[in-house]
Amino acid sequence: MSIKEKIDENKLPEHIAVIMDGNGRWAKGKGKFRIFGHQNGVRSVRDTAEACAELGVKYLTLYAFSTENWNRPKVEVMALMELLVSTIKKETPTLMKNNIKLSTIGNILDLPPKCIDELTSAIEETKNNTRMTLVLALSYSSKWDITEAVKKIALQVKNNTISVDQISDELIAANLSTAGMPNPELMIRTSGEHRISNFLLWELAYSEFYFTDKLWPDFTKDDLYHAIVAFQNRERRFGKTSEQIKGA
Ligand code: IPE
Ligand code: IPE
Ligand code: MG
Repeated sequence: MSIKEKIDENKLPEHIAVIMDGNGRWAKGKGKFRIFGHQNGVRSVRDTAEACAELGVKYLTLYAFSTENWNRPKVEVMALMELLVSTIKKETPTLMKNNIKLSTIGNILDLPPKCIDELTSAIEETKNNTRMTLVLALSYSSKWDITEAVKKIALQVKNNTISVDQISDELIAANLSTAGMPNPELMIRTSGEHRISNFLLWELAYSEFYFTDKLWPDFTKDDLYHAIVAFQNRERRFGKTSEQIKGA
């Protein structure tokens, strides 16, 4: 039985989030520059997106560039931005073919104008696609997102649009850049690092975490299937007891 056949199609996560990590180490291991790792990571992005769409996952969020990543050497940041532009340009026809909608979270206005243009046109072109939404987290950090949400809510209180008592879990969620999306049931991080790195702090409150030592450019469809099978074998209790869950 292949790993893919072990997936229960009735228990699929609706939303998978991925911290794509280890590109630099992958390249270094081959005696190459870090950007070579980023370039090869594109293949894993394509495979993961394709596998998720084929299975029927509705949302895939990929952490592609964090707020903190701006602190990397300028040449790496520039190379990553160029790779982003060329990848979006190249992959938009595949998104169309596979009926995948592109979306972003993060401070997109921080990106170079060329990236903003390329993203805007890909988002526009794919906006009516319905099979899956591919969300790229770009210049994203969860603390930034939560801070922006707090500012928006504070302004609504100041303008008397809402009262303090109306601030709720739902209102906060509705003011995050992930508004309207279900929370990821499964979060995958590659490269053996066991941390969240400022990713979706609010949205991952009850997600199942899956860590693999595989470096991102080596991550395949089968690796994704392994993560989903592991997820499906977990008991999600949400504060309740195991007996309550089994009895439900
Ligand atoms: C992840 O790989 C890609 C980005 C953060 C843009 P890294 O570039 O972090 O690779 P390592 O962790 O240094 O190996
Ligand atoms: C997290 O990876 C950000 C992305 C994958 C885009 P990093 O490699 O930047 O994370 P840290 O800094 O090692 O935690
Ligand atoms: Mg890293």
